[in-house]
Amino acid sequence: SPNEKIEKLLQQMTLEEKVGQMAQITLDVVGKGQTRFASDEPLALDPDSLRRALVDYHIGSVLNTANNRALTTKKWYEIISEIQKVAMEETRLGIPIIYGVDEIHGATYTVGATMFPQQIGQAASRNRDLVRKGAEITAYETRASNIPWNFSPVLDLGLDPRFSRMWESFGEDPYLSTVLGVEMINGYEGEENNIGDPTHVASSLKHFLGYHATVSGKDRTPAYISPDALREYHLPAFKAAIEAGAHTIMINSGIINGIPVHANYDLLTKLLKEELGFEGLVVTDWADIENLHRRDRVAPNNKEAVRMAINAGIDMSMIPYQYEPFCEGLVELVNEGEVKMERIDDAVRRILKVKMALNLFEKPNTHYSDYPKFGSQEFEKAAYDMAAESITLLKNTENILPLAKSSKVLVTGPNANSMRTLNGAWTYSWQGEKTEEYAGQYNTVLEAVQKEIGEKNVYYKPGVSYKMDGAYYEDHLDGLEEAVKMAAKADVILLCVGENTYTEKPGDLNDLYLSDNQTELAKRLAATGKPVILILNEGRPRIISKFEQEMDAIVQTYLPGNFGGDALADIIFGDVNPSGKLPYTYPRYPNATISYIHKPSEEQKKAEGVYNYEADYNPQFRFGEGLSYTTFAYKNLKLAKNTFSKGETIKVSVDVQNTGKRAGKEVVQLFSSDLYASKITPDVKRLRRFEKISLAAGESKTVTFELTADDLKYFDATGKAITEAGEFELSVADLIVEFELVD
Ligand code: IFM
Repeated sequence: SPNEKIEKLLQQMTLEEKVGQMAQITLDVVGKGQTRFASDEPLALDPDSLRRALVDYHIGSVLNTANNRALTTKKWYEIISEIQKVAMEETRLGIPIIYGVDEIHGATYTVGATMFPQQIGQAASRNRDLVRKGAEITAYETRASNIPWNFSPVLDLGLDPRFSRMWESFGEDPYLSTVLGVEMINGYEGEENNIGDPTHVASSLKHFLGYHATVSGKDRTPAYISPDALREYHLPAFKAAIEAGAHTIMINSGIINGIPVHANYDLLTKLLKEELGFEGLVVTDWADIENLHRRDRVAPNNKEAVRMAINAGIDMSMIPYQYEPFCEGLVELVNEGEVKMERIDDAVRRILKVKMALNLFEKPNTHYSDYPKFGSQEFEKAAYDMAAESITLLKNTENILPLAKSSKVLVTGPNANSMRTLNGAWTYSWQGEKTEEYAGQYNTVLEAVQKEIGEKNVYYKPGVSYKMDGAYYEDHLDGLEEAVKMAAKADVILLCVGENTYTEKPGDLNDLYLSDNQTELAKRLAATGKPVILILNEGRPRIISKFEQEMDAIVQTYLPGNFGGDALADIIFGDVNPSGKLPYTYPRYPNATISYIHKPSEEQKKAEGVYNYEADYNPQFRFGEGLSYTTFAYKNLKLAKNTFSKGETIKVSVDVQNTGKRAGKEVVQLFSSDLYASKITPDVKRLRRFEKISLAAGESKTVTFELTADDLKYFDATGKAITEAGEFELSVADLIVEFELVD
């Protein structure tokens, strides 16, 4: 059995061999003369460094691509199979390596792969089936690239719009992240977590936990998370994902309550491994053991950093400072009694279990020729569908949208003609710089609009363009006067604004307002008197309140992937009825980045007649907002009774009717409000269930949701779960029903 094989291997392995399994190096370490970013030489392995790593240091894992660029499936096969050959034929025990890559919205490091909207857009679709299908396709195409391990999904909450990785999350709501996270894992790993099936991959839950919750809103800066907030908001999605059988987890690079998470025994061992029962592999983020010494200064040297991290519960070190200090240091620590052999065996057992589950011992490689559907039209259709269902219509004054196909349109703005901005980062390269080079024949917004209504009806001038030199979101004026002049020829203006690509530290931001140049372009175009359709293409909600009122319609595309241009054009010209819903709160002001999940005191001023109304909770757009070209009416929100005991199922139903003239999809969202909670001030309301339904014109459907008392629990200041009897409200759209929960 696999377990017996693992135990046998553990008995045979030397300490050095075990420690090597716990190290994960980048491809650069074994590549030829290349640095990660600088070289343009074709990628090749260096036989000497490869043998040094695998044979001398027994390294067990490799990640990412050398030179930070996408490879073809064939090239991936050649590279990884050459590494596996050395691992399996030239090392004493023949243990395969496990290769991992960030394939976060498709097989992002493979040329020709199917690119989906980034997670934030997928959350806006509220379509569970499409999320699972997208992950299945990503797993297939990742395996077609001979890669078995995907560093995805992100289960951190996108609670802070300032954070540079907000778009990598499913947005601000814990329930939404929980539901969609589980779908994504099922898609990656298969329903039974059968990752030995060569169309599935091991997933990696990121980044355990609270990574996005920094005080400053900047990447890898301190967070302070109370025990109740940890369990109420940050833990549920991870807990559910672990219950769904996810095989690996990556640790938050930051500091929580003063303690770097990589050195936190309470979080990594007591909570994750013991309480949640996680039996999979725990991997660090980039160089984060070294960071305990170099950056976070809890360890006076690298060896002490290794001791802290491994004893806290880390199983594998990503970027073990080119591996010598990690491997040699850890061997010394075990020999000195500072790290117990059982801890090493536990880590190696977890690593070997994942390799075994992936069937790497029997079949270390998957061959691209066995994946005929790679990049197929069938897959591309799924990515298009996801883009079409994610795009969110936020404003549509006098139903200006959809536009007639006979319209003459000025397409303008820095995001109008860029595949890079449609895809976002982790696309063909870490920061997405190589996107234009590899994106092939896919359509930018400009190209898609030209296809839709004919080139002669489309005028184009960017007005503002991004600096593409590593200044990720800086822009400059680029023909603003010409763009404004051109507006005279058009019936309507499609103004495509937002952000250039970024992730992690390079995306840190000092000002959440949309840039001055783009704001000026918007205002100047609005002043022409021509209707302006504002198209947002951004990873986080950049504030638009300085000119929002001057816009006739607003469409949020998020980072919709290679088919985002086509899906948007189909929505603008009415071939598709929009159905996306905001997965976050869109702030109106920089000092008001308040989630819909907030305490009553955020809303008290208006209610109590306090004078400063302006500072009350009043976002630009609310969580869950999203218009359609049809209208929906909600009626009959009903509970079977109005008192429930804690063991009973709380069934609630509502009738939804399409009252407009065309078919549409609607997301029915059920919120609960705990009116009083004795230990912690309750949140004003919380999403508990949602369902996306399709309705023909005039059609009605009854949607029924079931809740249990467990859905209504909260955590006290010590983190203890409490299900408290009392009054609750349930709401759907603007309908509310009340009930009492009794012991
Ligand atoms: O998976 C990523 C993580 O999200 C950020 N740091 C690098 C890792 C590996 O590429």
